[in-house]
Amino acid sequence: MTEHKTPKLRSRAWFDNPDNIDMTSLYLERYLNFGISLEELRSGKPIIGIAQTGSDLSPCNRHHLVLAERIREGVREAGGIVLEFPVHPIQETGKRPTAGLDRNLTYLGLVEALYGYPIDGVVLTTGCDKTTPALLMAAATVNIPAIALSVGPMLNGWHKGERTGSGTIVWKGRQMMAAGELDADGFIKLVASSAPSTGYCNTMGTATTMNSLAEALGMMLPGSAAIPAPYRDRQECAYHTGKRIVDMVREDLKPSDILTLDAFHNAIVVNSAIGGSTNAPIHLAAIARHMGVDLPLEDWQRLGHKVPLLVNLQPAGEYLGEDYYRAGGVPAVVSQLIEQGLIRENAMTVNGRTMGDNCRGVAIEDERVIRPFAQPLVEEAGFLVLKGNLFDAAIMKTSVISQEFRSRYLSNPADLDAFEGPCVVFDGPEDYHHRIDDPATGITPETLLFMRGAGPIGYPGAAEVVNMRPPAYLITEGVSALPCIGDGRQSGTSGSPSILNASPEAAAMGGLALLETGDRVRIDLKAGTVNVLVSDEELATRRAALEAKGGYPYPASQTPWQEIQRALVGQMNTGAILEGAEKYQRIAQTKGLPRDNH
Ligand code: FES
Ligand code: MG
Repeated sequence: MTEHKTPKLRSRAWFDNPDNIDMTSLYLERYLNFGISLEELRSGKPIIGIAQTGSDLSPCNRHHLVLAERIREGVREAGGIVLEFPVHPIQETGKRPTAGLDRNLTYLGLVEALYGYPIDGVVLTTGCDKTTPALLMAAATVNIPAIALSVGPMLNGWHKGERTGSGTIVWKGRQMMAAGELDADGFIKLVASSAPSTGYCNTMGTATTMNSLAEALGMMLPGSAAIPAPYRDRQECAYHTGKRIVDMVREDLKPSDILTLDAFHNAIVVNSAIGGSTNAPIHLAAIARHMGVDLPLEDWQRLGHKVPLLVNLQPAGEYLGEDYYRAGGVPAVVSQLIEQGLIRENAMTVNGRTMGDNCRGVAIEDERVIRPFAQPLVEEAGFLVLKGNLFDAAIMKTSVISQEFRSRYLSNPADLDAFEGPCVVFDGPEDYHHRIDDPATGITPETLLFMRGAGPIGYPGAAEVVNMRPPAYLITEGVSALPCIGDGRQSGTSGSPSILNASPEAAAMGGLALLETGDRVRIDLKAGTVNVLVSDEELATRRAALEAKGGYPYPASQTPWQEIQRALVGQMNTGAILEGAEKYQRIAQTKGLPRDNH
């Protein structure tokens, strides 16, 4: 082991400041109150925060309450002291109107906690969808040593001998109900079967995606993202994470040393290979902006589109989280990509070694679940970035475009080319649910479904509502998917081939606000364009009329935070962060310490 000189710890300003002994005594006396001794607090040991995301409100992350005990033991073993604290809860399926609304709130809260308290390094307890980006965004802004610990996925779900995966089974069950194959009780039982244990969604949804990408970014111990929550390996990983963060403080290994442009490029490539969520570009853009790294949306297509899908997990494939871990998890995927020269191997990671050193030569343990590069599930599995007169930027996940969809819409199904059709426009999910099955809505197999009013401002936080099932009368005729386009998001567990995250959204008077049911829209996947076939003059007339009415209408804010976020939030193509927050960078280094409080 190389000897590292311990840098002066920021916590010393609280607990050991000879120039201000009355404040030092004030800080010390209260932190003694949970049983820590004066001797320990004055010893100069690194103070390690555990940013705790687990709670009864956040069942996906709740197991972190158990894992924190093992983190503590690891920290103590390595000579550190733990201060565990809660962060604002975010639970994807429980929070109304959206969990997306809370990502920036959790970010803000954690920045204040990390900067304003005596913390030298932090363990970020990641898991449920938005918890991972929120915590990484805050760690990037403050830039003190930080390591992420995934809570891990749930065990595999099973129903009648088949794997049932989080979320994915909901979309499937909805179709079965619409086709009359399932009643309401059966639907609930089917969905519940997908959640057999503690942990996060067991599909390649946003949680598995973002934790895999946290590892691909180098912010998590290698091999740790995919360990299922209840496995003993997860407990062991918590212990090693606790030990490691203490050394990271001693080595002064910070997010800025890890979250480099190379790291983000690696994450984009890995996202294609795992079949990652369409939420990933939003969250990676947000983390990059808070880290001061330039990561335009176009990089997703440039670096990611040609990368094949290797991981056979639902919704694009058949397996679930336990299988992913047993097949080798992120290192096995990265190893395949390294062999093709697709990984920037010199990117540093939290264990003090490079991505290349961590993953080079790691074998796949089950080729049904993680395919060798030469035998992918889908070629060119990354995102397309589209634009046109309806929006400046949107993405499409091509790995989930079914054969049925390809043969119906594309003249050459092997090729992603152009198609067009009349549109039906829904203003929010309530409008969609109300009208989708009504034959008067006029949906045919040629229809393109549009969802608007679902972006970061319109549906604060952006709702995951762009994946819309066809009307029941078409499903019974065998039409299982229609093209969906919208300014909202889509659950990472959905296999719909939607065009989503359209920016700017209708509520910000993007082109979608001007669309009318019956307009024809042309989608050219080769050219990367989506255009409504209406003249510029007509669009200008519609815009003027809408502006005269006060703009695209959306419901009033219901909470103070909704109002604050709506006033400050940017669009999804640039991360939907609080605009203005990104100028506060690496504040532990650039802003000095906060002033004493008395
Ligand atoms: Fe929390 Fe999916 S709902 S991880
Ligand atoms: Mg979701």
